[in-house]
Amino acid sequence: MSIAINYKNSLSSKNFSNLILFIDEKFNISTLKKHISSSEFSLILDLIKTKDLKKKILTFDINSKRKIILISLKKNITVSELENLGAKFYDLFKDFKQNVYNLNSDTIFSKSKNMVGYFLHGLKLKSYVFDKYKTKKNKINISITISGKNKPSPQDQIKFKAIEEGTFYTRDLVSEPGNILHPDEYAKRLKSLKNIGLKINIYDEKKLKKLGMNTLLGVGQGSIRGSYLVTMEWNGLKDKSKPLAFVGKGVCFDTGGISLKPAKFMEDMTYDMAGSAVVVGLMKSLALRKAKINAVGVVGLVENMPGGNAQRPGDIVKSYSGKTVEILNTDAEGRLVLADALTYTEEKFKPKFIVDLATLTGAIIVSLGSEYAGLFSNDDKLSKQLIDAGNYVEEKVWRMPLNKNFDKLIDSKNADMQNINYVGGAGSTTAAQFLQRFILNKTPWAHLDIAGMAFSKYGGALNSGGATGYGVRLLNKLIEDNYE
Ligand code: BES
Ligand code: ZN
Ligand code: ZN
Repeated sequence: MSIAINYKNSLSSKNFSNLILFIDEKFNISTLKKHISSSEFSLILDLIKTKDLKKKILTFDINSKRKIILISLKKNITVSELENLGAKFYDLFKDFKQNVYNLNSDTIFSKSKNMVGYFLHGLKLKSYVFDKYKTKKNKINISITISGKNKPSPQDQIKFKAIEEGTFYTRDLVSEPGNILHPDEYAKRLKSLKNIGLKINIYDEKKLKKLGMNTLLGVGQGSIRGSYLVTMEWNGLKDKSKPLAFVGKGVCFDTGGISLKPAKFMEDMTYDMAGSAVVVGLMKSLALRKAKINAVGVVGLVENMPGGNAQRPGDIVKSYSGKTVEILNTDAEGRLVLADALTYTEEKFKPKFIVDLATLTGAIIVSLGSEYAGLFSNDDKLSKQLIDAGNYVEEKVWRMPLNKNFDKLIDSKNADMQNINYVGGAGSTTAAQFLQRFILNKTPWAHLDIAGMAFSKYGGALNSGGATGYGVRLLNKLIEDNYE
């Protein structure tokens, strides 16, 4: 799959390729007169009577080699509506043989330079496919040349591209199967991100043992692969101001461990590292667009396997924070990985805030399906910022409660706490309460449970099925609107 997008000042006079023109929602075609030949105009005038004007994209076959495509833009069209139009365009034309287009941006009335940018952004995001392991690839080549004045500035073009590449990197990581992207391989790939200006630190098992990160290590101890904590720093500000911190669950495969999961759908647990992949994709976007902020990404990479050396139900381990945890269910492992990662992030980087992302509970899918990620937070301002950013980019979050009465339910007889509650119910909140115990210094913190959002069997507005990359655009927007 390749989509080539070029910006040119004027349209080539050759009219053998397809032409994309924008039009108002009433399809008032008289505005197009100055952009096409009079014979093409009269043809469209004739044919438009036969078209369903409720559709937003109309196609006119001028000859066997040329289509004119009219895309209607309603007044006050929103950014996500524009992106969705781009995605729809991709779906309509991806199988078309002559995929060379000219797009005349002067047909846009609005002065917003980014309308074409958002349209193409949606098109690009929708076009992603993971076909690395297909020996026969479905080759789709689309080339779009944009002319006219209404185009994004070079800076905005860089921004769009950075977000696309970050999202695609997240999707690549999430799509990789467990036999390929195990923790050793994952850590190796992250090391190479120093090439784009990120400072990478990899803590292997030896270092983690020394630091006392035993809740993280306990999860990985049944695996023949290593366990890692990786930090990625982006310093876009010259000063040493506090960074924004993003922490991700990177369970490369979650069998459940000794509390083994049932066979049905266990293969889905290859995406149990999606939280970490969002953090990585975000850090990549920030570096590519040279964001003017300081940020740090921290990911815990493990494989949760049963085996002779695996952690047992009933084991008691001491976390990096010093608090002890009784492991009652080895399948509630994400919170154990995040516990050490959160305390470490707070202590080492003293961040402005911490946002963590994790495919943490099946229960959040019961609550919110694939519409919203669950948001749990100790901070109203950060929550509002996340909700607003989510609504804007259509990566929505829904705030769920934290309460000391839920917290009590994870007190343990034998240790400071246990990793599940035995009363049952409120599974996603229980997990969030557990995480909150590892924020020691009241740092503003938000936890996003993305179990229902990371992967889509049937595809969504801006993805064609598979790994969605949910979270990268949300957090980019959060940063852009509030911290840059
Ligand atoms: N990785 C799972 C959560 C999950 C489930 C993600 C479905 C995506 C789709 C997590 O580690 C887990 O197994 N959670 C348990 C917790 C329980 C043992 C308290 C769950 O949700 O059942
Ligand atoms: Zn699990
Ligand atoms: Zn898990």
